[in-house]
Amino acid sequence: MIQKTAIVLAAGLGTRMKSETPKVLHKAAGQSLIRHVVLNLLDAGVQEVRVVVGFGGELVKRELSDLAAVKFYTQKNQLGTADAVKSADLNSLSGQIMICNGDHPLITAEDYSLAFVASGSLDLGVVTCQVKAPGAFGRIVRNAKGGLQSIVEAKDATPSQIKIREINTGLYVVSAVCLKKYLPCIENKNSKKEFYLTDLVLLMIKDAKKVNGLLTKKTRVSCGVNNPVELAQAGHALYLRSAKKLMLDGVVVVAPLNTYIESTVKIGKGTVVEPGCMIKGSTIIGENCIVEAHCQIVDSQIADGCHLRWGSVIEKSKMAEKCSVGPYARLRPETELEGFVHIGNFVELKKTKMGAGAKAGHLSYLGDAVIGEGTNIGCGTITCNYAVDKKKYKTVIGKNVFVGSDSQFVAPVNIGDHAIIGSGSTITKDVPARALGVARSRQFTKENYNKE
Ligand code: UD1
Ligand code: CA
Repeated sequence: MIQKTAIVLAAGLGTRMKSETPKVLHKAAGQSLIRHVVLNLLDAGVQEVRVVVGFGGELVKRELSDLAAVKFYTQKNQLGTADAVKSADLNSLSGQIMICNGDHPLITAEDYSLAFVASGSLDLGVVTCQVKAPGAFGRIVRNAKGGLQSIVEAKDATPSQIKIREINTGLYVVSAVCLKKYLPCIENKNSKKEFYLTDLVLLMIKDAKKVNGLLTKKTRVSCGVNNPVELAQAGHALYLRSAKKLMLDGVVVVAPLNTYIESTVKIGKGTVVEPGCMIKGSTIIGENCIVEAHCQIVDSQIADGCHLRWGSVIEKSKMAEKCSVGPYARLRPETELEGFVHIGNFVELKKTKMGAGAKAGHLSYLGDAVIGEGTNIGCGTITCNYAVDKKKYKTVIGKNVFVGSDSQFVAPVNIGDHAIIGSGSTITKDVPARALGVARSRQFTKENYNKE
């Protein structure tokens, strides 16, 4: 099999982002631009990705440090696209080399694969497309037979060339042999005094190499991100893409233009996702769930038949089948719900396990707690898990316990199975199984007290 290497150009300043963050680290649909590009290249079967960095290079390296197939090369001065490619240690290359931009997050793995295939019989293939507003793109000049003749940068174009609507997308496939031979010959005699990678075309044609422009209808190939407007447009397109994919798998996305599901998320068929939801990271949602509007779900596992009501926030948590949560509930990291648990409005859980069928219906904080199956936590219950020594302590409540409303558990404290806690209690001592624990002052009533 022929070796496939990609060189990703990402040394540019990204001035128009007006940001201190390197452009390729800005996120579209939850993932940095450069990560989208690199993951898609790897999916397309590229064995090695060489990322050319410059401005903010260390940050770019950190962002991709988990990917073993990625190597980094530094371009010292931004002297143009040919100079950037030259930085990537050309001598060690063999096979087919794909050159692409680090800020084109909409190109799919399939687009990259097709470019490799279409360039199979060529020494250099340039992916082009027709656009309505060619703006600053390099123009594709074709000869009488329709073959590629040259690429002319907008700044160097003649009045008739500037009208050409077929543009250079910045995606190329070139043989390593030709890249090594012709790249060093490129000069910077142009209006920008830059070394233009696009000059490869002229040099190779002059030497009778097989060069062509590969016209694609997929205009996404040309969609780069240069400013925050384009960043939002790219994010929008990516969210829409993952919503469409899920819909074709049987997920009901009520308002796909208004739903933000990252491509890493898995959702089972029959699940309904209402508008305004953000579902992120490694989240997996089962079948036949209802995710009502404006829920935020991050890195969580939700089993079949769960009902997440309005505006709930769920982070790094797990829930088994048929739980109901919210509206306005907050599940913080390490929360685990067994099946049929009910969490109502304004309930916050952190590092808490709830047994099957347990309930906390209203206005509670349960942190560092283990709550047994069938237990009912009354309205306004609080686990006081954080002590004056700044340490966290555990509350363990058994099975089928009845916790009256407005109770506090001053941890560490243990409540046995089938115990009953009187409403309004501040529980500081363990309550054994089946006992009644009440910790509040007795009521006294004075007759005819109000003389008015
Ligand atoms: C380049 C092409 C143009 C094409 C366009 C598509 C050249 C001369 N022109 O335009 O025909 O239509 O891409 O996007 O190649 N970069 C570096 N180091 C540099 C210069 C650029 O790493 O010294 C990187 C940028 O970060 C960016 C990419 O190369 O990722 C393209 O550079 P950019 O300035 O956006 O493109 P142009 O040169 O204007
Ligand atoms: Ca994410």
